[in-house]
Amino acid sequence: MIAIEASILSADFARLGEQAREAEMAGVEGIQVDVMDGRFVPNITFGQGIVRALRGVVSVTLDVHLMIVEPERYIEEFIEAGADRLFVHYEACTQLHRALQTIRELGSEAGVAINPGTPLSVLEETLDMTDLIQVMTVNPGFGGQQFIHSQLDKIRCLQGMLDERGYSIPIAVDGGIDTTTAPLVVNAGATVLVAGSSIYNDRASVGQNVAALLASIKV
Ligand code: DX5
Repeated sequence: MIAIEASILSADFARLGEQAREAEMAGVEGIQVDVMDGRFVPNITFGQGIVRALRGVVSVTLDVHLMIVEPERYIEEFIEAGADRLFVHYEACTQLHRALQTIRELGSEAGVAINPGTPLSVLEETLDMTDLIQVMTVNPGFGGQQFIHSQLDKIRCLQGMLDERGYSIPIAVDGGIDTTTAPLVVNAGATVLVAGSSIYNDRASVGQNVAALLASIKV
């Protein structure tokens, strides 16, 4: 089952709730909230309050992607705000295993995100604490960037690594996902596709954009 998730990073910030609902009505399986602190990435976006507000608007999975330094500090607050799944970056955690353990203990699904320059080997010792792995297919910080094609091999290798070790952990991809790149990442093994600017843009409606993405992967 391939799931499309809408990243609200490219949504109209003056109408976030409405735009999240539009994506839900269009058939996305989840909404991803990109939390950025201006230090881990060169951009500042949302906090716990936005997650809490969106929790009251959508009933699909609410993913929170923490692109912040020392994410451990805010795990509890984002889960309390309503996150169903919390992604922390390997690169931002001093104690990744403990961070994942804490997320699970607090009742949320634990996701690890890795940047394009980070090797898969960093994931090996925490697979038993991981519910999802998010492969960044852009360098995090902004929507609308170009898909980094070299990550296709990484996705294939990751799927191979999981198969070899007997783990069935879903692979999410995030960054530059559109009707052209969606079939490529699915073919490589991704089953959760996070899309922002290909859903929220002025070329077509949210519904039309989600339908085009779903059609591109024949869901
Ligand atoms: C990167 C963000 C983006 C966003 C999706 O920091 O995480 O990847 O979710 O953006 P698009 O789909 O516009 O590349």
